[in-house]
Amino acid sequence: MPQNHLNHLSTIVGAANVLAGQDAEPYATDYRRVYRGKAMAVVRPGSTAEVSAVMAYCYEQGISVVPQGGNTSLLGGSVPDGSGQSLILSLSRLNNVRSVDAVNATMVLEAGVTLHRARGVAEEAGSLFPLRIGSEGSCQIGGNLSTNAGGTAVLRYGNMRDLVLGLEVVLPNGEIWDGLRALRKDNAGYDLKHLFIGTEGTLGIITAAVLKLFPRPRSVCMAFLGVPDPASALSLFGYLRARLGNDVTAFELISSDAMDLVLAHIGCQASPLPGTHGWYVLVESSSTADQASADDAFCAALSDAGEHGWIADAALASSDRQAADFWLIREEISDAQTQARGSVRCDVSVPLSSIPGFIASTTTAVLNQAPGTRMIVYGHMGDGNVHFNPLRPTQTEAEAYLQVHGEAITRIIDDAATALAGSISAEHGVGVAKRDELLTVRSRTELELAWKVKRALDPRRLLNPGKVLPTLDSAANTAA
Ligand code: FAD
Ligand code: LAC
Ligand code: ZN
Repeated sequence: MPQNHLNHLSTIVGAANVLAGQDAEPYATDYRRVYRGKAMAVVRPGSTAEVSAVMAYCYEQGISVVPQGGNTSLLGGSVPDGSGQSLILSLSRLNNVRSVDAVNATMVLEAGVTLHRARGVAEEAGSLFPLRIGSEGSCQIGGNLSTNAGGTAVLRYGNMRDLVLGLEVVLPNGEIWDGLRALRKDNAGYDLKHLFIGTEGTLGIITAAVLKLFPRPRSVCMAFLGVPDPASALSLFGYLRARLGNDVTAFELISSDAMDLVLAHIGCQASPLPGTHGWYVLVESSSTADQASADDAFCAALSDAGEHGWIADAALASSDRQAADFWLIREEISDAQTQARGSVRCDVSVPLSSIPGFIASTTTAVLNQAPGTRMIVYGHMGDGNVHFNPLRPTQTEAEAYLQVHGEAITRIIDDAATALAGSISAEHGVGVAKRDELLTVRSRTELELAWKVKRALDPRRLLNPGKVLPTLDSAANTAA
């Protein structure tokens, strides 16, 4: 980056917070080390005013900017391309807790607060902030909002979009929009915050948010179940919802290959069940009832469900420690795959009723395409969201497997989901990895509309270039 830019940015954020050369490199590679780009420099502002000044300067100078939170994006959204032309704007230092209002059940956090800390702040206030994802130690509130993160408590509490009341955003030209309203009812005009949620840093920089707090459950019940097949899991899910209602907080499905992989990763002694099963389910129920009566209701529901043949074996978590051990198995699957290398990662959603048929037909098609593939299939079944991630056979090299089969397998999975009126990206977003697939699953009208929004908010197209929006061969995507 030319020295004059570095000098100017240093006057805004301090020289120690402008990183160039080797110091910038770690920021240009994603958490999984799959997407490797090159940054002009990294700038780490410590206040909204500094973000605003950096953005105003970049706008004036025509410098493109890639916003970055915890850099845990699974689709390459948080790192620049290899041109070295973009600045990375790291929000990590913008990490103050501005306020907590227990009566209004809200907290105002800056974008760089990690999800783990956000949950802790809520807990200290005697409340719950319910977003729960495996990357919580690294990912940040700004990143969670920009990806509309999902995770394992969506069933009960919704996605990140459902957990936010107001935003503060710095626009591409440096202007600050203060939309930090802490209201549950506010129909005074367009609800502009939604423009910035789930748009992966392509329209503005989120600097702070008003987040909702919820009552802490007094009781949590968890079970790790062996089940015969996804159809049994689906029947079980419907039954438990009918019996326990909204208390069913998580309902996660895990294939046997995923279970084998994660147990090898964290240690086989972690298995909660003595035998092996075709499929596994992790179910959590939480409520404000006392623990003893919640346990009674949970166990009775599972026991009655067992009469239908939907459950082959069950382990109940008898302590917080054991519940955490159950969660560890589920949350480490992603990292186990990363370490194993050579998985085709697809994150689809389909209507719930279609899940068993989708898994069966897609598994057959993938095994026909690449015999010996390990079927790492897991995810948030209660949300209709399956992480369908075929993994290379143990004897096959990762690169060779992905080169020969990666595209074909992606087509099998994403086309099957699309044919069932599903989504090719349930919760991980688009980034660069899924960008061009949007050309096949979104209408021209919808894509042109998205480009119109982009042009209106970011007329110089400086924010997170190359992400989310596929190039259209018309005037729709030319700079205004
Ligand atoms: P980053 O990766 O840094 O950025 C993500 C996107 O948001 C990028 O496009 C970036 O440019 C943009 N961005 C970041 N901060 C801002 C900001 N302040 N303003 C504007 N744009 C910004 N995701 C799920 O939904 N559910 C899961 O269960 C889940 N589990 C995961 C488990 C693991 C082990 C890993 C590695 C990832 C998982 N993810 C999951 C994906 C990822 O963690 C989430 O998408 C998370 O919300 C990203 O947050 P981040 O702070 O790391 O954002
Ligand atoms: C999970 C991430 C990968 O559910 O979304 O583990
Ligand atoms: Zn997930």
